[in-house]
Amino acid sequence: MSDNSDIIIFDTTMRDGEQSPGASMTHNEKLALGELLEAMGVHVIEAGFPAASQGDFEAVSEIARRSKTATICGLARSTPGDIERCAAAVRHAAKPRIHTFISTSPVHMKHKLKMGANAVLEAVGRSVAQARNLVPDVEWSPEDATRTEFDFLCKCIDAAITSGATTINIPDTVGYSHPEEYGNLIRSLREAIPDSDKVIWSTHCHNDLGLAVANSIAGVQAGARQVECTINGLGERAGNAALEEVVMAFNVRRDGLPFQTGIDTTRLSTASHMVSRITGFPVQFNKAIVGKNAFAHESGIHQDGMLKNAETYEIMKPEDVGVSKTSLVMGKHSGRHAFRDKLESLGYELDQEALNEAFKRFKDLADKKKHVFDDDLIALVDDQLSAVGERISFESLRVVAGSQGPQTADIVLVVDGERQEVVREGNGPVDAVFNAIKAIVPHGGKLDLFQVHAVTGGTDAQAEVSVRLKGEGIMAMGRSSDPDTLVASAKAYIHALNKLEARRLKRMAA
Ligand code: KIV
Ligand code: ZN
Repeated sequence: MSDNSDIIIFDTTMRDGEQSPGASMTHNEKLALGELLEAMGVHVIEAGFPAASQGDFEAVSEIARRSKTATICGLARSTPGDIERCAAAVRHAAKPRIHTFISTSPVHMKHKLKMGANAVLEAVGRSVAQARNLVPDVEWSPEDATRTEFDFLCKCIDAAITSGATTINIPDTVGYSHPEEYGNLIRSLREAIPDSDKVIWSTHCHNDLGLAVANSIAGVQAGARQVECTINGLGERAGNAALEEVVMAFNVRRDGLPFQTGIDTTRLSTASHMVSRITGFPVQFNKAIVGKNAFAHESGIHQDGMLKNAETYEIMKPEDVGVSKTSLVMGKHSGRHAFRDKLESLGYELDQEALNEAFKRFKDLADKKKHVFDDDLIALVDDQLSAVGERISFESLRVVAGSQGPQTADIVLVVDGERQEVVREGNGPVDAVFNAIKAIVPHGGKLDLFQVHAVTGGTDAQAEVSVRLKGEGIMAMGRSSDPDTLVASAKAYIHALNKLEARRLKRMAA
């Protein structure tokens, strides 16, 4: 960080984001995301909560090992065991950080921690000192800071700084604050605490009132120089401040917000797709920066203005965030070379084997569909990548549907390498497909959501299906696309089921 207007972007998609119900990520998915975040120029990657599970520990360790420029951070409660485990995971990084926290608000101390103020204050000093003995870079957070009594908050922060914290993060844990209040809090803390200029101040805002990005920006205006955020705003409940929105606000409004993040914004769209694919969480169409409609102009007046001059209705260019200008791409005569170039322009760098498989799928799709658009290709590759290494995979499906029942599904799956086929009936074709899958892989999950969208326009459009399964307090999202809605439904269900099983095993291990 060269000058005082440089903002540290701290990404917590793999920690706070993964805590979001249903948003689990596999080890390899985390490695791929870590690589992309680092390539984008993210300064700090919070890669997980090492004490939470063996899987989290291994993912943080491996991301740390592979890191080159980014600081790799792990989260730890204030207990000695958590902090040791965190240090053991991040120590492989060129720049390791321990982020330790404890709740400081009256409601959290009384009901969650069942600790008095003195015990909490003592834990702050002890945990930060322990962490600082293990790594030179220690971040401390008072959980639920925005509902904490100001004087007590000052005492805790003072203890953290005296014990060696290098970053002080102010979480609006329940998304309760508003911009003026949050900005004033950061400003007042910086004024009241003696050594406040020796640390970096950080924002961590949740989005329960839809104010997370606005609050983060207010925090920066009040002197914070680190923003904690997630791709697509993923996170607990309504999520965290969205990384792409924070970064583009500083980029587009340099006049009033003279701060820079140094993030390569042309990768924002790729990062958004990757997180959406990994978690199975679709991105809302009208989501700022990365939503499908973020650069679409529908009304005649707007289209007319755009044709005359794009600045009439666009405050940033689609290319600035990695959305290519032309969407119509290829047909069945397009070659392998053009296909690879197109994928690269969409942010996908596949190895030879994956590229061959994607090309084959593209040819199959082009046989069924005259025009293959960017969104079709993104759906196709996302679908392929999310199926890699899954325990249960789809092989084929034949369905009898229509008004002359019974509706029947004949499905072939491969489970742990073994091919299995069943035929089942149902109340309609989708029900028959899901019954057939359940007959091969019995499980306790209940269907909680089933949603179908068209990837593009036209009756030959691919269907994109999202499925959410819920069981034993665990949720898992699956997503898939195919020109055949029933095939997409089967694959989305299987994707969710793979995630549900993985999450169940992870919980058992924890
Ligand atoms: O929201 C929160 O308070 C957190 C802390 C652990 C930083 O995520
Ligand atoms: Zn949080």
